[in-house]
Amino acid sequence: MAAAETKPPPRTGAKFVCHEDGTEWGDFEGLRRHLRAKTAWSNAGLVGCRVSVLLENREWSEGLVAQYHRSSGKHCVEFRHSGARRWLMMLRTAFYIVDRGPCDEETKEPEGLTKLQDEPWTFAEDLSLAFARAQSVLHDCYGGRTQEIGHKTLGHVCVTDDDRRRATEDRGSLLYGELLPRGVHKALDSRHLDAGRATSVYDLGAGTGKVALQAFLQFPNLTKVHGVELSLARFHVAERALLALAARDDNAARVSQRTPGAHIEVSMNDQTLSITHGNLMRTRDVGNASIVMLETEVPTDTFAEFSSLLDACQEGCRLLTYLDLRRVWRLPGQPFPFQQLEANRSFADRYPTSWSVQRGHHLFLWVKVLKPGVAGVAFAQGRAAPPVVPSKRRSRRRDDMPPLVFGKRRVQSTCAIC
Ligand SMILES: C[S@@+](CC[C@H](N)C(=O)[O-])C[C@H]1O[C@@H](n2cnc3c(N)ncnc32)[C@H](O)[C@@H]1O
Repeated sequence: MAAAETKPPPRTGAKFVCHEDGTEWGDFEGLRRHLRAKTAWSNAGLVGCRVSVLLENREWSEGLVAQYHRSSGKHCVEFRHSGARRWLMMLRTAFYIVDRGPCDEETKEPEGLTKLQDEPWTFAEDLSLAFARAQSVLHDCYGGRTQEIGHKTLGHVCVTDDDRRRATEDRGSLLYGELLPRGVHKALDSRHLDAGRATSVYDLGAGTGKVALQAFLQFPNLTKVHGVELSLARFHVAERALLALAARDDNAARVSQRTPGAHIEVSMNDQTLSITHGNLMRTRDVGNASIVMLETEVPTDTFAEFSSLLDACQEGCRLLTYLDLRRVWRLPGQPFPFQQLEANRSFADRYPTSWSVQRGHHLFLWVKVLKPGVAGVAFAQGRAAPPVVPSKRRSRRRDDMPPLVFGKRRVQSTCAIC
């Protein structure tokens, strides 16, 4: 169990690392500027860049930024395939820069550190110093494997036959993909899950624990961060990362509880971070969480049980989900208790993930607007919910089955995690 060893004195001349390219920085401010500069652009600097733009909120199209019109604030983009030219307000358009083109324009080069002093950017991601610090420590704890992308990350390849057997028995899904550190930063910011004003985050389906560890490091106000993971192999990766954190000499983190292969808890000042190997469907204390992250695929035949878990969340709890909860809700007679966050209603609200680094994936963000109902209370007490009598008349109330945000067009299910 407890292992609070004395730490060696802090190293001097420590370097801070960018998790995306491994460059080392002598101070966090320099590292933060470096991270911000990568996706930053200025109105003039965008001219000549090749960009990929999300058009009509559904299709990505590549084009060249040909002109900037100062008085309207719009850029003219010439699209490669259609040959169409469109004037777009880029600050309000979902796009990413594919190629910055010739570097003779101001701020075109993201690594142009001589120009960083002035920061004449029109757009730069609002990355905090806390993020710069957290991603550097995270990177170290994962042995430099933080920004893993594609479908062969450690979390994909580590899975064993025992994991598969367990997943079948528990009717869980081992589908995998990671929210990248920039994605976690965006999801937790004040416009989204607002972790700066929360006290606890539960990551249900924690994978290798990167999201939980980043939240823990970036937000010292979070007194409790808790992850649950079904795959033992993924749990082991998380366990190793937490041990690496506790072994570092530049913080007060120590292992406060440990049952190898089952549970690990690290304490640091007023915070605890725990990861448990188990089935998220048995998280009875989910009602204590101010934020619940469920970037997790859930089999259809467990939607009723999953709905009881969701219903057990407290009123005001914010959630991130991979699935659209309006399609998941299976508690007939109990009104749909979530509202989609305003900032998340557009399909353009996207999060960098291991399977969609540049475009990002549209995850769903919610706030629970009702207290736990019958099913939620029963779930928290470890009982099956009493059968709910379905209402005879189909309710037209707004919160019963809210309309889709994407309009009338049928949205194809795109299970991008694999
Ligand atoms: C898409 S991954 C997300 C990992 C992590 N949240 C991240 O973004 O890096 C979903 C994880 O949920 C886990 N999972 C799925 N069903 C589960 C269950 N019933 N109980 C616990 N974990 C589960 C999977 O094994 C997988 O590691």
